[in-house]
Order: sequence, then structure tokens, then C-alpha cells
Amino acid sequence: MSNTDRQYDLVLWGATGFTGTLVAEYLTETYTPEELSLALGGRNEDRLRTLADDLVAGAQWESLPIVRGDATDRERLQEIADSTRVVCTTVGPYTTYGTPLVEACVEAGTDYCDLTGELNWIREMIDRYHEDALEAGSRIVHTCGVDSIPADIGTMAVQSAAVDEFGTPCDLVRLYVDGRGGVSGGTLASAVAMFDAASTDPIARQALRNPYSLAPPGERTGVDSGEQRRPKWDPLRSVWTAPSPMAAVNERVIRRTNALLEYPWGREFRCTETVPTGSGIRGGAVATLVAGGFGLAAAGMAIDPVRAGLQRFVFPDPGEGPSRERIESGHFTVRLLGRGTATDGPFVVEGTIRADVDPGYGATARMLSEAAMCLVRNETATPLEGGVLTPASGIGEPLVDRLRDAGLTVSVST
Ligand SMILES: NC(=O)c1ccc[n+]([C@@H]2O[C@H](COP(=O)([O-])OP(=O)(O)OC[C@H]3O[C@@H](n4cnc5c(N)ncnc54)[C@H](OP(=O)(O)O)[C@@H]3O)[C@@H](O)[C@H]2O)c1
Repeated sequence: MSNTDRQYDLVLWGATGFTGTLVAEYLTETYTPEELSLALGGRNEDRLRTLADDLVAGAQWESLPIVRGDATDRERLQEIADSTRVVCTTVGPYTTYGTPLVEACVEAGTDYCDLTGELNWIREMIDRYHEDALEAGSRIVHTCGVDSIPADIGTMAVQSAAVDEFGTPCDLVRLYVDGRGGVSGGTLASAVAMFDAASTDPIARQALRNPYSLAPPGERTGVDSGEQRRPKWDPLRSVWTAPSPMAAVNERVIRRTNALLEYPWGREFRCTETVPTGSGIRGGAVATLVAGGFGLAAAGMAIDPVRAGLQRFVFPDPGEGPSRERIESGHFTVRLLGRGTATDGPFVVEGTIRADVDPGYGATARMLSEAAMCLVRNETATPLEGGVLTPASGIGEPLVDRLRDAGLTVSVST
């Protein structure tokens, strides 16, 4: 069966989870059954039926089909991957549950998008499935949430503007991340799974340490020295900056985009992501405090008994997350500053991506849904029709319009 003759356009796998439910709500509120043939997938039939009934009551859908299965049942996952054009999954930790589904999608030539930020697992998927996915025409697009759509798509937009306006890309893009939001049990369980993998597997450890670990094999070195770990004065914006918790994923994803597109921004291209904390003594003190807290958290998570204790006694359980009020009152802004040199001198390109809603859940549900819609509608602007891809290399420019339609601000100025 060709990819266009499938029973469904989209299976939302993990629909009953904390983020999966937000994605299901967004999709059924934004699209009609005439526009999207959607099925809800997961392991618990009762919970799936309850969710489907709630969604039908609140939107213009008469019914929502359900596909039941377990993330460890490879045969069932193959049936699911064979039945749909696209799978969008929020079943994590991906290190624990993700691999059989990626394998099934590659085998079926099905497109796929997810929310993983687990570097060890993305690296494993690249090494195991990139070539097969390329051959099968299956687009496996990881990191379609707040990490790493704003960073990756924002960098692409800044670089396109630089090339259009100045005839050459920026050789440096700096990202400044600011916002307020909550965290779910599933996200923390995924962070624990990543540190668990790094404690036993040298390749996972290397994926966390090497700034180019997500580049194709043979290209895992370059000029960037890795994410910022200390407070630093930023002369470009005259502010103090602290480490960003998303930098490790976002920077590597941007570098993979550049590599997969065959270095349109050059092999000397550099990118860094930080959190601005203000100028003066207060800005420096906040940067020092944030950097200290960040270092302490990373050190704690690297110690097996501390990590196990945090998961058992401190972190919320999987399925739990911030309240609806907290999601609605959240916000985030990613500012991008690109710097390059054209024949008539140095230039600067600035970009902004922002939303007035919690980044990790409210905005992420919209970003993942719209990434999935791009795959469903085949709205992609990239030479890559398959492979283990990033948002910018696997979807590209069309996602910008969809993000704007979804209420996010995306702007670039030269
Ligand atoms: N990068 C980002 O921006 C971002 C933002 C948000 C979340 N995330 C990631 O998204 C993932 C989900 O987070 P969350 O907070 O939504 O987690 P969650 O609430 O725990 O949801 C996990 C989902 O996986 C399902 N599941 C668990 N084991 C399964 C199995 N064996 N077979 C089938 N389904 C199974 C659960 O089913 P039940 O409902 O039946 O329990 C649930 O639907 C995490 O990896 C998190 O890190 C990333």
C-alpha cells in the first residue's frame, strides 16, 4: 500500500498522556474531520475512549477512532505504522519506549514526528535508522517541541534572511531564551532515562559530551566548543548570560541541520544558546546563581542514587504536569542574533519567536501538531525526503507559516 492510500492521515500515539492530551485537544479544536483523518493511539482502551468522548463533546467531531497497542509490541506497532501516513508520538521516555515505533515507521515508509530531547536516543536512531529511512522515504523528525523548533526553525529563518539580504549566511547565531513554564512527570522521567543511559553506555555519554554528536558519522567534529556552563558577559547584547537547560539539545540539532543540508552556513558556522539575566551587578549575580543551580542539578542527576531518589520522592509522577492556569499564564521568547560579514562589511540579522503560553506544554502542543500537519499535507521545503531529520531539515520554511497561524510570533529583521 502506498503512503497516500492509508486508513488514517495521522495517528497520535500517546494521546492519553499529559502532553498527548493537549495535542489531541489542539488538533480536534483546530481541524475538522474533513481536513484530517485522525486516530488516537495508546495502551489503555478505557482511557482512550474517555478522552475520545470528551473531545467529541467539545468539538465538531462525531467520533474519533482508537488504535490500541503497547509500545513494546513490535508487531502491533507495525500494523499501526502501516495504517497511517504519519505517526506523531508523545510516548516517552523515548529511550525506554521509542525505538520499536521508529523501526516500524521506517519499515512502513511512514512519516513520524516526536518530542524527544533525549540526546542519547536521537544519536542511536541516527546511527541505526538514518540510511534505511532515507531509502524508504520515511521522514523521522525528532525534537518537534519547544526543544528544538524555535531554535532550529528560528536559525533557519535568520540564515535565509541573511542570504536574501546580504548574499551570505551568518557565521554566528546566538540564541537568548527567556520564559516561564512548568514541567511534567514525563519530561523529568525522560531526563532520568537519559542520565541512566549515560551512566552505563559510553556512546550515550559521548552523545551528551560531544557538541557535534548528532552530526552524521564521520563529521562529528567542528569549531564550536559546546554549551555555556558558566556565567558570561555577552558583548553583543551587553548583558550577563547563564547556561540554558535546552542548549545541549538545541545547539546539536542546529548543527545537524547544517550538516544534513550539506553546510549551506559553512563548516565554520557557530551557534550558542544562553539565558540573558540583565546587565550590571544584579545581572551578574543572577547569572552566577542560575549557573550554580544548573551545575548542581546536572551533577546530582549524574549520581545514580541521587537521580533515583529525586525520581522516587521529588519529581511528579508520569501523567502529571502543570495546571491549566499555569499553562495559560506561561510565556516564552527566543531572540536570535545572527552576525556575518558580507563584501561591504559586517552585518546583523535579528529574529524573534515567542508565544503567550507555557513553552513546554501549551506552545509545544501547537508546535508538534503543526509539524505533524506539515508531514500529513506534504508541506515541506527541503531536499531531504527521508532520514532521521531535524525540524528545519525535515520540514523547513512551511512550518513558519503554520506556527504563525497557531498564534506564535515569528519575525526576522535585517
Ligand atoms: N521537547 C519538548 O519540548 C517536550 C515538551 C513536553 C514533553 N516532552 C516529552 O514528551 C514525552 C511525554 O511527556 P508527558 O509529560 O506527556 O508524559 P506522560 O504524561 O507520562 O505520557 C506518556 C504517554 O506514554 C504512554 N505510555 C507509557 N508507556 C506505554 C507503553 N508501554 N505503551 C504505550 N503507551 C505507553 C502513556 O500512556 P498512559 O496514558 O496509558 O499512561 C502516556 O500516554 C516525554 O518524553 C517528554 O520529555 C518534550
